[in-house]
Amino acid sequence: MKFDVLTLFPEMFESLNESILGRAIEKDLININLINIRDFSKDKHKKVDDTPYGGGAGMVMRPDVVYDAYKSVYEPNAKVIYMTPQGKKLDQQKVESLSKEQHLIILCGHYEGIDQRVIDEINPEEISIGDYVLTGGELPAMVLIDSVSRYVEGVLNEESTSEESFSAGLLEYPQYTRPEVFENREVPEVLKSGHHENIRKWRRAESLKITNKKRPELLKMKDLSDEDRKILNDMN
Ligand code: ADE
Repeated sequence: MKFDVLTLFPEMFESLNESILGRAIEKDLININLINIRDFSKDKHKKVDDTPYGGGAGMVMRPDVVYDAYKSVYEPNAKVIYMTPQGKKLDQQKVESLSKEQHLIILCGHYEGIDQRVIDEINPEEISIGDYVLTGGELPAMVLIDSVSRYVEGVLNEESTSEESFSAGLLEYPQYTRPEVFENREVPEVLKSGHHENIRKWRRAESLKITNKKRPELLKMKDLSDEDRKILNDMN
């Protein structure tokens, strides 16, 4: 999976070289190509923004500079995304569908935004990571890259992927590790039993309980098995 990121702040993306994504990059499972929009400025001072027509606060990114940066990576099969609070809110379903793409071009705005004409010309899919406003699209782009990369084959180990499909659409069951007793709190007995079927049932029940308690709107009755419904009924 290739990500081309158009940004004024490529250094911000360095944190993606750590941990799971760092290993995925090393193994060439994902490729994150950072394009500094400033490199496409024709101005002798490398200016990329200017004051807004009509007046008002802040600066606006120039359409010609952004467009030249975009054209340097454009390919007909690429999916182009603009990170903006005006976009459709990112969710796991969207993440999964984006992971099926081969090539994503992600445009990050900064300052007061980008001249509307280049947005109209490129016509990207607009994606928001939530109903709050950040100083730029870089953190949202990193959220997108991280969440999408998890679905790229080989990035997570097989066990994590199968555990995730086990609790798909539900919140995760709680996890425990050593020590066996921490501040008088014990690890649930069933997890030490070695009885795989009982552990599976306990975890499924915990996922259902936690989802029902914290995010009941996520529970879609039609997706639940008879065993799930029984667990939920017994709770109520
Ligand atoms: N740029 C600034 N805020 C944003 C948000 N919430 N989502 C996506 N891009 C953004």
